[in-house]
Amino acid sequence: MRTQVGIVGAGPAGLMLSHLLHLAGIESIIIEDRSREYCENRVRAGLMENWVARMLIDTGVGERLQREAMVHDGIFIVFNGEAHKLDFRELVNKHVYIYDQKEVVTDLIAKRLADGGQILFEVEDSSVHDFDGKHPKIRFKHGGRAQEIECDFIAGCDGFHGVCRPSLPRRSWRGYDRIYPFAWLGILSDSPPPEKELIYAYHQDGFALYSMRGPHLSRLYLQVTPDEDIASWPNDRIWEELTTRLAGVRTLEQGKILQKGVTPMRSYVTEPMQYGRMFLAGDAAHIVPPTGAKGMNLAMADVRVLARAFEHFYRKGEGDGLDAYSATALRRVWKGQRFSYWMTSMLHRYGGDYAEFDMKRQLAELDYVTSSRAAAVSLAENYAGLPID
Ligand code: PHB
Repeated sequence: MRTQVGIVGAGPAGLMLSHLLHLAGIESIIIEDRSREYCENRVRAGLMENWVARMLIDTGVGERLQREAMVHDGIFIVFNGEAHKLDFRELVNKHVYIYDQKEVVTDLIAKRLADGGQILFEVEDSSVHDFDGKHPKIRFKHGGRAQEIECDFIAGCDGFHGVCRPSLPRRSWRGYDRIYPFAWLGILSDSPPPEKELIYAYHQDGFALYSMRGPHLSRLYLQVTPDEDIASWPNDRIWEELTTRLAGVRTLEQGKILQKGVTPMRSYVTEPMQYGRMFLAGDAAHIVPPTGAKGMNLAMADVRVLARAFEHFYRKGEGDGLDAYSATALRRVWKGQRFSYWMTSMLHRYGGDYAEFDMKRQLAELDYVTSSRAAAVSLAENYAGLPID
């Protein structure tokens, strides 16, 4: 097989890149080791910055989003048993959307296939080769047969555990890493959200978050220890903790727990995000802790830059946009890292020698963010999405 851009991974980054390239008249093939069903049902954070929704709408994949996404004008922050609203519309004249990543993936797969795009699901043993020269190759097995795609460029959109990042020559890049001393226990509950907006709660027992997926579907998270055994969290205990930590909010309605899982918390950035003719995008290059839900938004920003650089290359034969890809993408990535780290460290309970100092510092920070307009504008600007151009 032969194509212009070979894409590894059918998550939001790989699919959106393929879609944007198609609109620019550039061919791509996507390979993915999971099944289509798996990709379309993988529950992830569901918060979308304003400009991402607009990009989906403007490029013809926003029809269901416009019908089904929930528009959010702000968030509540709860501490000391009191809820404080940050009104994004009033502060920065922006709003965000709740639309699960799996819905974005479902819409993009449908659109790529309708436009004649090629996505090979359930490939095995994929590997990337020769991206230090002009003829990179992707090898894999599909339906039991060994296959090869020869391409001009490779886009590594295969997530944090994918094959692309570890294939970069060892001395060509470095990873900046931070692991947090906690994790999130997340549930999906068949119950109505107590408020229209999301609720972020700081509590001495740990952080809690109330989010949602629909008028009768709630998504809740609790701070737990990183090695938490999910068996020690029976449903009664989950509801008890949520009720305690979200005190100050209207009565929490309990529902049937439809899904339960633990999300680790990590910050990671690869620098540079490119080598030769291979470009990393999304989780393959960087991950953020979920507080603030920047993961998919950063992935979308990467591929927007990358698609434009490819377009410039194929239209004008100029590679300067591609050369600058990593530096351009990283400016936004590090701001996303900074914000996610800051939200995480403001809202989670730390143990250790400085636990008491940290608590006092966090309460001062929360007081500041909910009483100073300048501080609230800064949070709102980052949460709703920094300007894209
Ligand atoms: C979610 O709805 O899954 C969600 C929302 C906001 C966050 C994290 C996760 O900060």
